[in-house]
Order: sequence, then C-alpha cells, then structure tokens
Amino acid sequence: MQKSIFTLFTLFLFLSCNTKKEKPAQTGLITENAMVVTAHPIASHVGKAILAKGGNAVDAAVAVKFSLAVVFPFAGNIGGGGFMVYRASDGSTNTLDFREMAPAKAHRNMYLDSADNVIKDLSTRGHLAAGVPGSVDGMVEAHRKYGSLPWAELVQPSIDLATIGFAVTKREADGFNRINKSLKELNTIEPTHLLKEWNVGDTIYHLELASTLVRIRDNGRAGFYEGETATLLVEEMKRGGGFITQEDLNNYHSIWRTPVISSYKDAKIITMPPPSSGGIALTQLLQSVEAYDLKKLGHNSAEYVHLLTEAERRVYADRAEYLGDMDFYDVPIKQLTTPSYNKERMQSFNPERATSSDSIGSGKILLESDQTTHFSIIDAEGNAVAITTTLNGAFGSRVIVGKAGFLLNNEMDDFSVKPGVPNMFGLVGGEANAIAPGKRMLSSMTPTIVEQNGKLLLVTGSPGGATIITSVFQSIINVLAFNMTMQESVNALRTHSQWLPDVIMYERGALSEENIKKLKEMGHKLLDRGNIGRVDAVKVLENGKLEGAADPRGDDLASGF
Ligand code: DON
Repeated sequence: MQKSIFTLFTLFLFLSCNTKKEKPAQTGLITENAMVVTAHPIASHVGKAILAKGGNAVDAAVAVKFSLAVVFPFAGNIGGGGFMVYRASDGSTNTLDFREMAPAKAHRNMYLDSADNVIKDLSTRGHLAAGVPGSVDGMVEAHRKYGSLPWAELVQPSIDLATIGFAVTKREADGFNRINKSLKELNTIEPTHLLKEWNVGDTIYHLELASTLVRIRDNGRAGFYEGETATLLVEEMKRGGGFITQEDLNNYHSIWRTPVISSYKDAKIITMPPPSSGGIALTQLLQSVEAYDLKKLGHNSAEYVHLLTEAERRVYADRAEYLGDMDFYDVPIKQLTTPSYNKERMQSFNPERATSSDSIGSGKILLESDQTTHFSIIDAEGNAVAITTTLNGAFGSRVIVGKAGFLLNNEMDDFSVKPGVPNMFGLVGGEANAIAPGKRMLSSMTPTIVEQNGKLLLVTGSPGGATIITSVFQSIINVLAFNMTMQESVNALRTHSQWLPDVIMYERGALSEENIKKLKEMGHKLLDRGNIGRVDAVKVLENGKLEGAADPRGDDLASGF
C-alpha cells in the first residue's frame, strides 16, 4: 500500500502541472514506445504505469477499465458492459463482446402498459432498466487470453484510488450534483457518500466499491458473479423490483467474436460485429463514400456533409431493420458489408438534393454526448487495444448496488422496447432488436483498429450513443482522406445524421453560414447541437512513433513514454 500511495501522490503532482491549454493542440502527445488515451487523466496514468512496468496493452486495458469505474463513474463501470477490439503485434485480431444481456425474466413487452404504450422512464431509470453486467467477466476473459502481469496487480490501482480518494474535476462535480435528486429517489439504500453539493477539487472516496474491487482482485470472476457481491446485487434487485437473479449472473459469459474486417482504399478496418451495430455501420459508411474524392469536396463543405448525410441515412435505416444480437436473429452481415451492396444503395444519391427519410416515427434527440467511454492503447510491442464501455446513460440506471458501491447500467433501453418507438438516442428498431431472455441489446459502440500496408495505423473509438458510429467514421476519414494528424482529426468539428430524425446535427462552428444555407437549399433540416462524440485515439506515425490524441471536448488525456 505504501508504494501505491507514493505512486498516486506522484501522479497528482504530475497532473497538477498538466493543465489543459485553451486552444487545442494540432498534434497530440508524441512518444517513442507506448500510449494510453482515456477519458480521465488518472486512468491514463494508471495505464501508462502498467505499460512502463512491462505490462502489455491488455494488462493496461484491464487496469484502466477498473480505474475508470472509480474515477469516471459517469460511464466507467463494473456494472455495465462493452466491447474490445484487439490486434496483436503479429497482425492477428480478435474481438470480445462483454455486452450486458437481458435477464431470464425479461420479455418483449416488459416496458409497455396494458394499452401497449411505453411506460415512461421504465427502461432508463431504476432496477428494471439494468441488464446483467458483463464488464468484470470481460476483463477476466481478456486477461486470461492475452494478459501477462498478475491479475491482482491490475485491479490494485482501482482499489487504491477508491480507498485513498482523489480530487473531482469540474465536470465530475457538476455530474454528481445533477444526479443527486435521482440518486435519492431511485436507491433502496441512500448512497450518502455521494449526496452532497460537490465542488471542483473535493476529494471523493468509494469505500464500498473498494471492498467489491478487493473481492474481484482476490477471486476474479467469482468476486463479482458469486459470493458477497452477487448476493448484494440480487438483494438489491429484490428490494427494488428488478429482474436479475443469481442464475442470470451464473449464466453471463463474455464471447470472443470474429471481427468485421473490410477495406477502405489501401486501409484495412478491423471492428466490432453484433451485438454492436457499430462495426457493420462503419463498414457500410466507408464503402458508401469510398468512390468519392472527399478531399476535393472539402472538409465540412456543404457537398461533403450532404454526401455523408445521405450515406448515413441509408446505413441507419438498415441498422433499424436488420441489426440485433446475431445469436438470436439472423443478421445479414455478409450482404451489409459487401462493397457492391453499399455502392448500389448510393445509386439513388443525388449530389444536389436531400432524399427524405421514411416518415415513420421521429426521434427524440439527446443532446448529451459522452456518457459512454472509449480508450485506446498501444504497447511497446505494438499490440493494440480499443475498448468502448458504458452504463448507457450518464450514471446508468442511477441505482447503486447497496453496500457494494457500484452503479448498474440502464442498457435495457438499447433494445427496441416497441417497434418504431425511438430509444433515448432517437434510434428505432424492430424484430431484430426485440427484447428476449438472454439476448444482448443492440449497441452503436465502435471500437476500431485500422491497418495500412499491413502495419498498424490507428486505434480509435468514441462515446455518444447514436453518434458514436459517425464520430468514429469521421475520425478515420479525417486521417485517411484529409491527411490530418490524429489530434486534428479528433479536434475537427463533427456532423451527424441517423435517418430518423431526418436532420443533420452539427457541432457549433462545424458549418459556415454559407454551407448551412446551401444544405437547406438542398432540402436538409439542420440542428445546431452540443458536442458530438469524444474520440480518444492513437496513430502510429511513419517514423514508428506514436501520436496520442485526447479529445478536447472532455477531461481526456494521452499519456505514454
Ligand atoms: O451501446 C450503445 O450504443 C449505447 N448504450 C451507448 C450509450 C452512449 O454512448 C451514451 N453516450 N451518449
């Protein structure tokens, strides 16, 4: 413990000297050997420390994942789930699905009243919103297959952080203050340690969470899915009227899945298959625009945004119809990711006019954009990890498992709770993504690794609900088609559209007045909104050095050596 206190103290000294500049840099952090980019400075340094003592990218990812559950509970978690895309230095690839699953008692109409109307907030708040968590099993499995350092050494930093405490950032203080009321309303045991008015710099401790992490450190999977943690979770469910049982916990297992691999010009794209829609949709978007000279159109010109929007309209319409957990629904992956299919879909593209989206259902727009979290890691050997993980909404269901100190997800809302009715991200779906016991809800998370000429080029991903796919898409084409540095690509203002609602969303400043006018003349509706995505990425430069690009939209930081 003595050593860890010293390490943390050094870390805080270092952090206090690393205040963010007003104008984001055009080049990210350049290092020789290894890089970690996450949504939280402390988590980035934890990952770097693991790499510096000889851990590989998966070791660092495990340590970062548990640390984010402590320092970034907004989205970091042990009560949620996520996806990992992995590329080893020998070029082999793999993906791990540790997405939450519906409990055995779940059923297709569980969020509908007797008149078949959706019951407000039932899939997003409280105990019934939670799917069976996958994060801990995912980390155990990733470590079992690829890890090199002892498990306990990777969980320990999160225990130290939860016990010794750390200073909250302004964003985190605001986040806790915003959810104070719902924490009181939704919890069966009040989380008194969180119920105060938070200010930047206040020290926060997560002592019950620390005890849970100790059980995970000492017992691995069993430290969460069995024994005291499991009992506390099941008791919480009983008190709050939730569905998750001990049997559901026993039945949860993360799954290694074959990556979706495609090409864009001379680049190879390695990304996540279902139950995320992200990889397939990203592949479709890249194939839809491959034939166009994007650089000639001009970054964020009216013509460029029009092209992206029309591709996005077609791809998100496919998403709503065809995508769901492929263990339950026959997803036509091969067809959707065939270049000729996507080229064919773009045949109806008119460079001068907007196509209108099918008018069935119109989405509610969520303006918050970063309630998931993504991190990218490359180690000294050249192994790469992209992990996107989430509780779904900010602080998930807002239910903290009594005496176990961790938040439960509200991932059940990612199912299509009723055909055609939009979820909290305005996304619609149908049969493919209907609720069923043991099924995994459709995701948009898109952790992705790109290769060029057989060599690792970049690792990327983002939070942002429906906007994840388009944020990752833009982070890649900014580099491949516009030759931006990784940092310029991450900084570049983004646009987003998703078929329904039929609108182009854009970050303030992304579009000039003239381009807005042109797009309106083409028949588009536009919406100026807050941040779109929060991309944390690493690029391998031509000289072999690494460029870590942290998104200036958050507290994110690149750390490496
Ligand atoms: O899996 C998904 O696609 C969503 N649960 C992600 C949620 C998210 O990114 C929240 N941030 N806005």
